[in-house]
Amino acid sequence: MNKEQKINLLAIESSCDDTSVAIMQNGKILCNIITGQEVHSKYGGVVPELASRSHQKNMIPTAEIALREADLKIEHIDGIAYTEGPGLLGSLLVGQQFAKGLSLATGKPLIAVNHLEAHVLSPLIENPELDFPYLCLLVSGGHTQIAEVESVSKIKILGTTLDDAAGEAFDKVAKLLGLKYPGGPLIDKLSKEGDPNAFDFNIGKVPELDFSFSGFKTSVLYFVQKKQSEDATFVEKHLSDLCASVQRTIVDYLLSKFKKAIKKTGINKIGVAGGVAANSMLRQKILALGNEEGLKVYIPSFQYCTDNAGMIANAAHHKFINKMYSGLDAKVFSS
Ligand code: KG4
Ligand code: ZN
Repeated sequence: MNKEQKINLLAIESSCDDTSVAIMQNGKILCNIITGQEVHSKYGGVVPELASRSHQKNMIPTAEIALREADLKIEHIDGIAYTEGPGLLGSLLVGQQFAKGLSLATGKPLIAVNHLEAHVLSPLIENPELDFPYLCLLVSGGHTQIAEVESVSKIKILGTTLDDAAGEAFDKVAKLLGLKYPGGPLIDKLSKEGDPNAFDFNIGKVPELDFSFSGFKTSVLYFVQKKQSEDATFVEKHLSDLCASVQRTIVDYLLSKFKKAIKKTGINKIGVAGGVAANSMLRQKILALGNEEGLKVYIPSFQYCTDNAGMIANAAHHKFINKMYSGLDAKVFSS
């Protein structure tokens, strides 16, 4: 701990295509700097090698901005946290090696954080009073899970996707509608002008609390191919209705499973996390569900939904207090 008895943690997130560095003081985020990577949009998805190279380029400047914004120097930092996985190996390695370097140079401990745990704990960032247990719907580009959060270190997965993730479904359908990567935010934006009930698509029928999105993608593909063969300008003419219908189908599907989990567990505090938690319709419908069912709802602000180092700092805080450090020989993992 530094002179003023404050715990200052520097956290690094580099699991996919955003380079992020956050600084947390005594459990409060001082800054959460996110440097995006434009380079992938023309390829229709994240290109792993380009992501690693961009992290390499952006890491030090992002950390410098974070320290400047928090008005701290590296010698004020008490612990260095980083994402250990799951994610892209090359990208994770850039963040981890930078963290190891900082740890060696400063003599401060290293803290490895699981990316999914960090997402699931993100509703706590702005609501430290949120007590356990709570149910979290984690919806990102790589994962779709319903988690029962019993404590910061005890997270039970009640359901998961059997194929694509919810974010992936948004992105893949967006691509077949001719939209750029990442398509999720674009579908959200275009949906505002469209009719969510204009078209119906089939979506995965898998039991209990698991999810499936691969059939949905095929259903949209066949529908669009058929309509385009009758009228080549179909997608262009109906783009906002298509987006709104796609969004409604995914959101209602996520909510139907989440409602099932709420009923099954009887837990009355709910949260949502991950990039798709930035979706305006999902946020709206989760709030409405809370009102209807008398549930307490915790939705992180946008900057803590998509990949960010603030959530890594948040998950690292209790590990630091409990001296759950990682060694310089720590590995990263992809899944
Ligand atoms: O959590 P995240 O930033 O990265 C992963 O760990 O995967 O999630 C990224 C995903 C992408 O698939 C992106 O399209 C989706 O989140 N996303 C959205 C929205 N904002 C981001 N999907 C729907 N509506 C949004 N507003
Ligand atoms: Zn993520």
